[in-house]
Amino acid sequence: MMARKNRGFFIVFEGIDGSGTSTHTRKVSTWLRNSGAEEVVQTSEPTKGKIGRLIKERLKEGGEERGNNIEEAVIDALLFAADRVEHVKKEILPALNEGKIVVCSRYVESSIVYQTTQGLDTNFMEKINKYTVNPDLVIILDIPPEIALKRAKRKRWEKFENKLFLTKVRELYKKRAKEKGYTLINSNRNIKEVEKDIQKIVLKHLKETLKIQIETEKQ
Ligand SMILES: Nc1ncnc2c1ncn2[C@@H]1O[C@H](COP(=O)(O)OP(=O)(O)OP(=O)(O)O)[C@@H](O)[C@H]1O
Ligand SMILES: [Mg+2]
Repeated sequence: MMARKNRGFFIVFEGIDGSGTSTHTRKVSTWLRNSGAEEVVQTSEPTKGKIGRLIKERLKEGGEERGNNIEEAVIDALLFAADRVEHVKKEILPALNEGKIVVCSRYVESSIVYQTTQGLDTNFMEKINKYTVNPDLVIILDIPPEIALKRAKRKRWEKFENKLFLTKVRELYKKRAKEKGYTLINSNRNIKEVEKDIQKIVLKHLKETLKIQIETEKQ
């Protein structure tokens, strides 16, 4: 893990394709800004940088062109990790060190669950994602793949966007949520209800963090 001052707050949204990670990253950022949060950085992965754009291009090619083999999984894993290290160094860490709130759609957990579903082991995934910063709050949006895929409505499906693969990804997200204490939210509901639940959870965690910070400053 990279060194980080005890300031700022880092929220990550995770979930299968079409689960609402982009929607809720945007919504919670707007809500925080309107609630008077000093500065909120809204971001996502893959990033808009060079490596991120390369990843997006490869995802559009689908899985079939290159075949779904272990070499492909390794290439995906390393590209996502490289994009992430750059993201942390250039954007996430500087913002957190300035005390800002960072809200990010997809992060380390995406790499772990997607690439282990592709056949890589968790240990390898954790190792190549070592040079990152840990989020303060990970929210996993849970939804059945068939509903998420209906919501996503693509002209052409990207790599990973099929029911069988996403079923495995969803199960792994749930398993890891239990193990790691991540917050699991049912995204298969009216958008307003999901949004309200998210706001409650974010507020609770922000208050706790703020309390700890105030206590430490007193000492
Ligand atoms: N609770 C909801 N009810 C109905 N539609 C929703 C809900 N949440 C999100 N949507 C819609 O579902 C679609 C997919 O959501 P979104 O783009 O946020 O998903 P995502 O997780 O970012 O997916 P991806 O990045 O894989 O495209 C969007 O059109 C969004 O408006
Ligand atoms: Mg999205």
